Amino acid sequence: MRYLILSDIHANWEALQAVRAHVRRKRFDRVVFLGDAVGYGASPNRVLDWLRSLGSTLAMVRGNHDRVCAGLDSAEHFNRYARQAAEWTLSNLEERNLEYLQSFPTGPIDLEKDVAICHGSSVDEDAYIFSAYDAQLAFAATSQQLILFGHTHVPSLFMLREDNGKQTLRVRLLTGRRLVLDLDPGNRYLINPGSVGQPRDRDPRACYAILDSEQRRIYLYRVIYRASVTRRRILNAGLPPVLGDRLLYGA
Ligand SMILES: [Fe+2]
Repeated sequence: MRYLILSDIHANWEALQAVRAHVRRKRFDRVVFLGDAVGYGASPNRVLDWLRSLGSTLAMVRGNHDRVCAGLDSAEHFNRYARQAAEWTLSNLEERNLEYLQSFPTGPIDLEKDVAICHGSSVDEDAYIFSAYDAQLAFAATSQQLILFGHTHVPSLFMLREDNGKQTLRVRLLTGRRLVLDLDPGNRYLINPGSVGQPRDRDPRACYAILDSEQRRIYLYRVIYRASVTRRRILNAGLPPVLGDRLLYGA
């Protein structure tokens, strides 16, 4: 099975459109979404309409912004920009999209026998996996060989190897326009494909990945999109300007 992997779209329609154009000639059977469809950006309805149009070909988990923007949780633990954006999103969602957002499932969920998906971590959808320690907790909470996660907006890989009872954990930032990773059957992996709509690794290009689960291979891509258009849309919506500015730098 081949999966198109998307995470952290954050209501950025232009980035999503660029990714869709980029994958047009690539083969995949299903779309996998790792959460945070909305929040920060000015196009929540377009993004949710598109996700909903995928029907049963879509496998997904909700993100922390999805939960708050759907009115299922308070925004009090968000910083003030995220809070403002969540309030704006909730008041601008069309009824059908609010209901759809409220129905997003909580992760982790099994994609197939040895592959799981989650938003933050397999321990908690709000937890970040930045460090080897964070990764150890996530590996310990699951048994799958591969866990796909989002939330940090940083394309990254954590690899757990066991040799004669001794564990070693490797961390790698995944940079570049195109990257191919072959998964070794003896190792376990936590992989973040990066964010479609708000990259934070100082590279403003949209991120996505394709997983070939039979070949145990992952392709990661970066795609240029017109972030200046997205920024203008954010400013016109009256959202905090910093949410548009950061897209220009991938910060
Ligand atoms: Fe996010």
